Parts: sequence; C-alpha cells; structure tokens
Amino acid sequence: MSERLEDIAAAMVADGKGLLAADESSGTIKKRFDVIGVESTADSRRDYREMMFRAREAMTRYISGVILYDETIRQKAADGTPLVDIIKATGAIPGIKVDAGAKPLAGYPGDTITEGLDGLRERLADYYKLGARFAKWRAVIDIDVARGVPSATSIGSNAHALARYAALCQEAGIVPIVEPEVLMDGAHDIGTCYEISKATLTKLYTELYAARVVLEGTILKPNMVLAGKKSGNSSRPEEVAEKTIKLFRETVPAAIGGIAFLSGGQSDEEATANLNAINAIGPHPWKLTFSYGRALQAAPQKAWGGKAANVAAAQAAFAHRAHMNHLAALGKWQPELEQAA
Ligand code: 13P
Repeated sequence: MSERLEDIAAAMVADGKGLLAADESSGTIKKRFDVIGVESTADSRRDYREMMFRAREAMTRYISGVILYDETIRQKAADGTPLVDIIKATGAIPGIKVDAGAKPLAGYPGDTITEGLDGLRERLADYYKLGARFAKWRAVIDIDVARGVPSATSIGSNAHALARYAALCQEAGIVPIVEPEVLMDGAHDIGTCYEISKATLTKLYTELYAARVVLEGTILKPNMVLAGKKSGNSSRPEEVAEKTIKLFRETVPAAIGGIAFLSGGQSDEEATANLNAINAIGPHPWKLTFSYGRALQAAPQKAWGGKAANVAAAQAAFAHRAHMNHLAALGKWQPELEQAA
C-alpha cells in the first residue's frame, strides 16, 4: 500500500467503507463490559476485540481501518498472532488513539481541554513502527448555554491542540483524524448544535492552516448536527442531513481527505439512518462515511456477553451493523433491511 498521506486518507474513506472505532480507553471499555456483565481484564479485552477483527468478511468488505488503543496495538491474539497483523490481513489499516483524554479547563467550569501533546513526537514514531498509519485525537465540546459553555477559549484551545497534533502526525508519516466532537448530551436544540459546531469547525480550519497541515492528508471526524438528548426532541434524518451538509459547505474545505462521523450516543439505527440521509442528498465535495464506536459495537457486545460460545453470533451482529453502515455510506440503506436480519 502507498505510504503517501493523501493515499492513506483516500483508502480510509474508500467507497462503502468506514472505520471501526475500537479505541476505548481501559476506563471506557470497563463501563461497556459492566453493562454486559463481563470482567474487564487484558485477556477479556483482547478476546472481545479479536472477535471483531476476525469477522473476516465484514472486515474485508466494509472496514477500511481500525482505531486501536495503546494496549491493543501491542496485544497478541490467543494463538500468538499480533492483532495488528490480523487487521492488516483483512486489508484494513491499523490506527491509534493518541490523545490522553479531555481534562477540566482551568478557569472555565464545564469546559474541557484534551491533553497529550507532551512526548507525542516520540510516541508517534513508536506507533509507526507498530504499524499505525493513522491516528485520532478527540476534542470534546459540551453545550450548556446557561453556563456559557462552551467558551471561546475552550474552542480556541482545543482547535490549537488539534492542529499541533495533526502537524506532528504528518511529520511522522501518519494521517491525523481530527475529531472536534460537539456533544449531543445537552438540552440544546438543533440550531444551537449547528451554531456551536460552526464556531468549532471555523476555528479548527483556521488553526490547521496556521500549523501548515496538509489538508489532503487529514480526515475530519465530526458530530452530526442534532438536537441534544435532554431536549426531548429527536431530529428527523432529512433535517440532520440538510443542516449537517449546510454546516460543512460553510466551514470544511473541499481539499480534505474525507469525513468519517462519530456516532456520539445515537442508537445504532439512528446513526445509520442519518448517515444514509446525508449521502442520499449528494453528490458532495467530500466522501462521508462512518467511524463508529458504540453504533458498531453495541449489538456485538450484547450478543457476545463474554462467552466463547457466542463468538459466531457476535460476529454476525457486528457484520450486520457494518453492512448497514456500508450501505448508508453509499446512500443505499433502507429501514426494511434491518428487519430482514
Ligand atoms: P462513538 O461512535 O461511540 O461516538 O465513538 C467514536 C469515537 O471514536 C469517539 O472518539
């Protein structure tokens, strides 16, 4: 495979393919395992992820790359094969989460700043040797209008950190996924999500230009434009699609390598229906696909439940979601296809 940044980015958003975000930190995966009653150990985390990476047909057809956590990129399968090699054998590209998480932003209650820049150059060199050809850094922008959250300082600091991260990635021959996630957890309406997302993306691209990041060798991982969960409103896919595309046309350069959405707490089917609606109103200047964590993994986690006897059923559940999102990335998904499974 080509090692040029723009070729790696193009492969990450190849037609009908998307990313599997399997980069939950040890704390986050424990929360997911608690729900299914599985103890989180290095071996159970390995077994779970190996189950997905060995779903060969789904991986080969629908998954362009996998975002890994530091522990996983170094782990070996039960038979001793490095997990990275299992991923590569399906044609998917290994990637790595490199941020150290969102921490409270001093002086701005309710805002966070994502940490992890110190020592990043050295860590990227190590991850490159381990096989990673793309990376992810997630900035978190919460919305709480009554408290003045997010502040302009938080948006600016997070955009600046994303740009410094992206420049270091490109220096290391690694494609940066830039993820400025505007959370859907609040009580805000869809218009507020649009406005905050617009301020965030505008600042992000100003900082990426200033940092001399080559846009063709980047992937944007954005939220969709949605009403907050606590607003009691759920947005229709047509409205999500119209507002999300309007936002991107106003703020996202056509030159970037592509767009791969996070699911952010949408239900499995909502995340698929919204991606489908976005692609159905194309053509667009960019490829738009998925980089889902929860919306690809909730169903297989439930089916697996930590039991080796359930591996085939869990792989089937994973393959179904990957297939549905493959169709959505092409704008060819239909709700009836969910029942058929
Ligand atoms: P979700 O799809 O569960 O939001 O996770 C994607 C991700 O990688 C967030 O950083």
